[in-house]
Amino acid sequence: MLSQELQNYIDSLIQPRNGLLAEMEEYAHQNGVPIMEPSGIETMLQLLRIQQPEAVLEVGTAIGYSALRMAFALPQTKIVTLERDQERFTLAVDYIKRADMQQQIIQISGDALELEEEVASHAPFDAIFIDAAKGQYKRFFEMYSRYLKPGGMIITDNVLFKGLVYNQEADSRRLRSLVKKIDEFNRWLTANQEYDTVILPIGDGIAVSKKR
Ligand SMILES: C[S@@+](CC[C@H](N)C(=O)[O-])C[C@H]1O[C@@H](n2cnc3c(N)ncnc32)[C@H](O)[C@@H]1O
Repeated sequence: MLSQELQNYIDSLIQPRNGLLAEMEEYAHQNGVPIMEPSGIETMLQLLRIQQPEAVLEVGTAIGYSALRMAFALPQTKIVTLERDQERFTLAVDYIKRADMQQQIIQISGDALELEEEVASHAPFDAIFIDAAKGQYKRFFEMYSRYLKPGGMIITDNVLFKGLVYNQEADSRRLRSLVKKIDEFNRWLTANQEYDTVILPIGDGIAVSKKR
């Protein structure tokens, strides 16, 4: 990934957020909620601005930070977002209401692996953002990629997982098993002939896959 020095420089050029978004970043920081890293989210938003999707599916809402960032950046885009943690889901409802974005962001509560039918009623999607349980990435991808339009884009976050996938030995068995799953997902995804995929060493590592 980028050296810390380079990452700090790039981060220093990202314009600070204010108001509700700054409050959400502070909440996430104080409460250990893993929202997307600044350079990662800026990259994703820029790809989406270029693509101008009509509809985006997000797997992993947390407190609604990335959903709101997407909605603000893409005022014409419908965002459908899934979250299984009830406390985070409720916080996201509050933040999205405070931003007055309930019309644009459709929140669905539950385990993404059990929501296919409900999600299908909002399909098709031009873009899918996978940012939930890392050990399940392949399952999320397989379940929801069938609702992606031809030429659509799937963005998967954390595919370099703090560098653990390529240069360090994780220090617990649980972490080692997770790292192995992410590495297997990366190999499967980059070899998948239905998509062109590139892995960007930005934030925690982002895979950008375009459906052929
Ligand atoms: C990294 S956070 C999402 C951050 C958010 N996308 C952002 O950047 O603001 C991952 C979230 O996915 C949720 N999650 C994990 N596995 C899930 C699943 N199977 N179904 C739905 N949500 C899931 C977790 O509860 C957590 O809140």
